[in-house]
Amino acid sequence: MRIDILTLFPEMFSALEHSIVGRAQKSGKIEVNFHNFRDFATNTQKHVDDMPYGGGQGMLLMPQPIFDTMASFPHENARVLMMDPAGRTFDQKFAEELSQESQVVFLCGHYEGFDERIKSLVTDEVSLGDYVLTGGEVAASVMIDATVRLIPDVLGKKASHEDDSFSSGLLEYPQYTRPEDFRGLKVPDVLMSGHHENIRKWRLRESLAKTLRLRPDLLEAYDFSDEEKAMLSDLKAADHAV
Ligand code: ADE
Repeated sequence: MRIDILTLFPEMFSALEHSIVGRAQKSGKIEVNFHNFRDFATNTQKHVDDMPYGGGQGMLLMPQPIFDTMASFPHENARVLMMDPAGRTFDQKFAEELSQESQVVFLCGHYEGFDERIKSLVTDEVSLGDYVLTGGEVAASVMIDATVRLIPDVLGKKASHEDDSFSSGLLEYPQYTRPEDFRGLKVPDVLMSGHHENIRKWRLRESLAKTLRLRPDLLEAYDFSDEEKAMLSDLKAADHAV
């Protein structure tokens, strides 16, 4: 995957040099290119923003530096993402969709909004969540991280993201590693039993219980099997009994 990032602050992306995303760059599974759009400003002071017509607070990114930066590299079939708190909220499903693309462009503003005409260059307006950041850089870093780990072979061969929270529509069940007893905190017996069917059922029940407790909104969109339906009504009944 080719990733292009339009930003005034490329140094804010140093997180991408490390760990799994860093390795994906070194092994050539992804290529990351930075474009500082201040380099494309044509005015002598290298300004990239100006006051909004009609008045109002704050500055807006001007179209010219962004249009000229976009014209400076190939992106014919790319997804072009504008980092914008007013965009659609980024989620695991969108990360999965992006991980299939051959090129993704991230357009990051800083402090300010965008001149509306910049949106003609963009395929998706995307927000990290319902809060306002100082700029799009942190949001783009998060989206790149979540996307790159889903590219085939970026996680080790043994690793799997199919059990991740969200990828099934439920939160992930609790997991334990050694020791079996840590300062009196014990691993549930069922996980030590070697009984695969009981372990599977326990994990499913824990996933459902955790999702019901922390993210009941996810259950509204979930397509339940008969087994899951029965478990969920048990859990709800147990909850009411308390
Ligand atoms: N820029 C400022 N806030 C943002 C957010 N929540 N998501 C994406 N880009 C942003």
